[in-house]
Amino acid sequence: MRRRDFLKGLLAASGLGLLGFPRAVQASPARSSTPEEAPPLPWEYVELDPEDVRKLGHLGYYGFECAGGSFWAIMVSLREKLGGPYNLVPIPTREAVIEAVTNKEHIQVPMQFGFGGVVAWGSLCGAVNGPAAAITMVSEWEEAQDTIKRLLRYYEETELPTETSNQYAVNHEFFVPKYKSDKDLPQNASGSVLCHLSVAKWCVASGYASGSSERSERCARVTGDMAAKAVELLNAGLRGDKDSVYPFTFSQDTAECRTCHYKGKDYEAGQFSRGMMECETCHNDLRPHEDEAKLRTAFGVGVNTWAGAAAIGTVAGIGSHLAVSSLRGKGEKDEKEG
Ligand code: HEC
Ligand code: HEC
Repeated sequence: MRRRDFLKGLLAASGLGLLGFPRAVQASPARSSTPEEAPPLPWEYVELDPEDVRKLGHLGYYGFECAGGSFWAIMVSLREKLGGPYNLVPIPTREAVIEAVTNKEHIQVPMQFGFGGVVAWGSLCGAVNGPAAAITMVSEWEEAQDTIKRLLRYYEETELPTETSNQYAVNHEFFVPKYKSDKDLPQNASGSVLCHLSVAKWCVASGYASGSSERSERCARVTGDMAAKAVELLNAGLRGDKDSVYPFTFSQDTAECRTCHYKGKDYEAGQFSRGMMECETCHNDLRPHEDEAKLRTAFGVGVNTWAGAAAIGTVAGIGSHLAVSSLRGKGEKDEKEG
């Protein structure tokens, strides 16, 4: 018998069982009981209310910023609906978070490291990172990847914070006791999932400093928006209809770049990079393609066959790429990522 079972037995025998050993840590009511051990992923997902999750995400940001807040919003909603196995996720109840925010107390939660693009590093925005972790908890792996890709693209292309979030703030419909700002905040599409670009572009578009309470409030609303969009996608996933929420597509430019630049084995054809971000957000000087080829292979040999060949986006450019690569070893099979 394990120690925990033994203690439970003791408590039951002494009549103290009603005080609830696990409930001392988890105050929220559970529909089903907490299993002894965490079952393997994915865990059960039931349809959630995106608007409630949006408000929880916003509150969560006040408690533990973007990544922790958005992850918490989805997890606590599932725990309120399902109990176990979500009782095993070490997170506070919504009441506890409102209390902590009111008293300015700190609670540590999973995914909290993702704030500010991972401990303020400015890489992946936490409002994407948190929901992506939640999606991974509740979806088959292939399905999770598909859902997360849609969420990433949504973040790049959408004017955030959403109008819905702005209105909740203006009308004081969020759950927070006191607002960092209740203004109708400027919206912009960042073109990037990177915290650094997202914050910098919004600050420049709005005129607010990165350390302003308006910027912080903007990120709280974006956190709610991304948690809500994740839930909309998950709900639609139950019906097999995620396209109705957000499709996964490439922009014209990115699709063109990725005809040559993707995770593959043909180094000289451009397969020395990977990624699905919008290329045009950062790469707008494509003159290098027209110059003398500078590329070095692992053997230190220049790839001179490429000089002038890559006229970007033109059939000629892509055609000559194919011509060149067809001269290469047949053993090299390109490995396409989704
Ligand atoms: C027809 C194939 C092809 C297409 C399409 C293509 N590239 Fe390239 N790209 C290459 C190859 C091959 C090189 C290496 C050139 C060399 O030898 O220096 C390269 C080099 C680059 C470099 C490094 C340039 C340098 O030397 O500093 C960047 C950045 C780049 N590509 C970005 C892009 C982007 C962004 C797009 C889409 C707008 C794109 N490429 C479209 C084939 C392509
Ligand atoms: C967030 C900005 C950003 C985005 C988005 C981005 N890149 Fe880059 N990329 C960079 C930076 C920065 C480098 C390093 C450039 C350097 O060191 O000269 C780089 C390097 C590269 C290189 C190698 C260049 C070299 O120096 O030889 C290629 C090829 C490339 N990117 C292609 C792409 C493609 C294709 C996409 C879209 C799928 C893309 N990039 C999206 C910022 C970005």
